[in-house]
Amino acid sequence: MSDVLELVDVSVVRDGRALVDEVSWSVKEGERWVILGPNGAGKTTLLNIASSYLFPTKGSATILGEPLGGVGTDVFELRPRIGMAGIAMAEKLPKGQTVLQTVLTAAYGMTATWHEDYDPVDEQRAKAFLDRLGMNDYLDRKFGTLSEGERKRTLIARAMMTDPELLLLDEPAAGLDLGGREDLVRRLGRLARDPYAPSMIMVTHHVEEIAPGFTHVLMIRQGKVLAAGPVEMELTSRNLSLCFGLPLVVERVGDRWTAQGLPLK
Ligand SMILES: Nc1ncnc2c1ncn2[C@@H]1O[C@H](COP(=O)(O)OP(=O)(O)O)[C@@H](O)[C@H]1O
Ligand SMILES: [Mg+2]
Repeated sequence: MSDVLELVDVSVVRDGRALVDEVSWSVKEGERWVILGPNGAGKTTLLNIASSYLFPTKGSATILGEPLGGVGTDVFELRPRIGMAGIAMAEKLPKGQTVLQTVLTAAYGMTATWHEDYDPVDEQRAKAFLDRLGMNDYLDRKFGTLSEGERKRTLIARAMMTDPELLLLDEPAAGLDLGGREDLVRRLGRLARDPYAPSMIMVTHHVEEIAPGFTHVLMIRQGKVLAAGPVEMELTSRNLSLCFGLPLVVERVGDRWTAQGLPLK
């Protein structure tokens, strides 16, 4: 299997501080990774590298076989091969645009609509992705009027639109209520188990948000890798406690995960 992402000794230094500190990590085709870590650990910074928008200060990053900063690498050819759904993207999208237009514009590598007549094939695809994420009844709703959960599902459909080889999700369940979270986890689980779905990397703070079908976990703290490997092997109470800096017990309940702090003595 080929590498979708290969980081070797990658550091990102800002104002003399390493936000990402000598990270070596490889994601192979078909794997579904979760990045776990406390606030400020460097999770979003790692995703920004994986999406080719941020270049490491030190070390090397190869994305979909293309070395970042390499002579033959054109990031403008690379970017459509990567789907990214995160808060930064939501802020760039026009609020007055409909849900359907919001997803459709991704096919043309833009954030705004510039004309009305899209290829009917693209429109069908946009509708199919929205349907898969349960957004069928919202096609004509303005993006700016959506609830948090509806907006997140729209962004994931949008990220799928270019048929990416790598799908990056930054805290897709953050801010959702319990029903919204469970609905999203179920849909992400379906996607994760689909052999035709792209390789995936999802950032989260909560083990409860790990959908069945996610295969690997990367745990980071203060920019450093604490653990990386198959979920069943690495998602242990010990690793999670080190990662979040307090005693935690992690349990598997069916095909889901849950964690809680130990009671104070
Ligand atoms: N451009 C930047 N310049 C300086 N510090 C930054 C910059 N971007 C992020 N940071 C800092 O880097 C750390 C890691 O950020 P981030 O990757 O967003 O963390 P996470 O997503 O894990 O919460 C944080 O302490 C954040 O404040
Ligand atoms: Mg973040």
